[in-house]
Amino acid sequence: MQTVRCRHQPLTHLDESESESVDVVETLVVLDGLCCGLSEVIESEKSKSTDQDNSNETDLFSLTRRCGFALARIEKAVLDVEKRVGGQRNADTKTKEVQHQVGGMIVRHFRSSIQSPPEKEIGSIGIDLAALRREMEAEREKEKETARKAEEERQREFSRKMREMEEMKRMNEKWIEEGRQREEEKKREEERQREEERKRNEEEERRRMKKEGAAAIELFARNKFTLSGNVFTKTFSDLSSLFSLSFGPVVVRFTFVIKKWVTNNFQLGLISTDLVEQAKQIQNFFSSLKRAASWELYPSHRYAHQNCLQSHAGSACKAGASGQRVVLEADGREGKRTLKLSQDGETQPVFFSNIPVPFRFAIQMWATNASVEIVSTEVLREPSMVGGSLEVVLD
Ligand SMILES: *[C@@H]1O[C@H](CO)[C@@H](O)[C@H](O)[C@H]1NC(C)=O
Ligand SMILES: *[C@@H]1O[C@H](CO)[C@@H](O)[C@H](O)[C@H]1NC(C)=O
Repeated sequence: MQTVRCRHQPLTHLDESESESVDVVETLVVLDGLCCGLSEVIESEKSKSTDQDNSNETDLFSLTRRCGFALARIEKAVLDVEKRVGGQRNADTKTKEVQHQVGGMIVRHFRSSIQSPPEKEIGSIGIDLAALRREMEAEREKEKETARKAEEERQREFSRKMREMEEMKRMNEKWIEEGRQREEEKKREEERQREEERKRNEEEERRRMKKEGAAAIELFARNKFTLSGNVFTKTFSDLSSLFSLSFGPVVVRFTFVIKKWVTNNFQLGLISTDLVEQAKQIQNFFSSLKRAASWELYPSHRYAHQNCLQSHAGSACKAGASGQRVVLEADGREGKRTLKLSQDGETQPVFFSNIPVPFRFAIQMWATNASVEIVSTEVLREPSMVGGSLEVVLD
């Protein structure tokens, strides 16, 4: 309970004779002892009052109160002394002893003097409190400012993140768009390459099918014709024919010149490829067969002929003549299937439609010594022959 350690000093040490020149240290030592005594009385009376419920509190109060008064007086005296000697750093030995004793007493008995400051100081702290309040206000303001700045920073960060995300979204969309465009570009490129490939193949086919001169004629009766350069001359009067290469669904032009015209039957046109063998056998015009067509150049005939049927006699075409340049242009493509004739650069009135595919061009001349000079066969991208209004549809 009692934490204060006291040095018990007998009261006899107080020497009245020395009161003229009071030894402060000695007096303090005596007072220290007295304080211990007073404190003990107060403590023991307090403990008695708690032990015995029926103790006389008024009496007890007066005793502790008187002890308390005594202690208060001593405290005041000690604090007075402390005021005089305290704070002297380079004090003499005697003063140091006093300081030591006063300090010890304050620590032992008057802690409250240290713990609760005197009124004057409370006043100044009151003023300080105002300053402190201002300081705290300022501090709070500073904190608010800091918080506000932090919030602003947070907002900025948020905005920045949003911008970043938007930017990312934009980039993403851009990438997707770019990817899509690349994909389309790729498709276009592939399409372009396919188209090029197709064109290359066509070109190749055209080159393959393009034949100069006599090479354009693939089939003929060797005992009925002589071939000199690109000129085929009939050596026998009969119905033998010259047949070109076979063509599929393409646009193709066959060109030759009537080298020597002999006025007799002279038929030119085309025939379905699979009918050539049959045509060689029959003793008739090749166009007497179904799926074959021809013009007759004999001057007084000049008819169109197909499936043994004549039409447009006298007006289907021009009469043949030596040196006449003849062009047959066939369009074997689906939906076209036409055959046109041009003589000396003039497209003739009759043209055939519904021609068979594949087919071979054919020239059938009866007379001995009649001759033709073959120029070429060539595959074209588009037909070039304009004109021809009388349509003869093949059966
Ligand atoms: C306490 O003391 C007072 C006077 O000092 C007296 O009047 C009172 O009766 C006493 N009470 C008891 C409980 O002893
Ligand atoms: C064919 O021509 C040759 C010489 O050019 C000639 O001798 C012959 O009589 C001619 N034949 C006919 C049938 O005209």
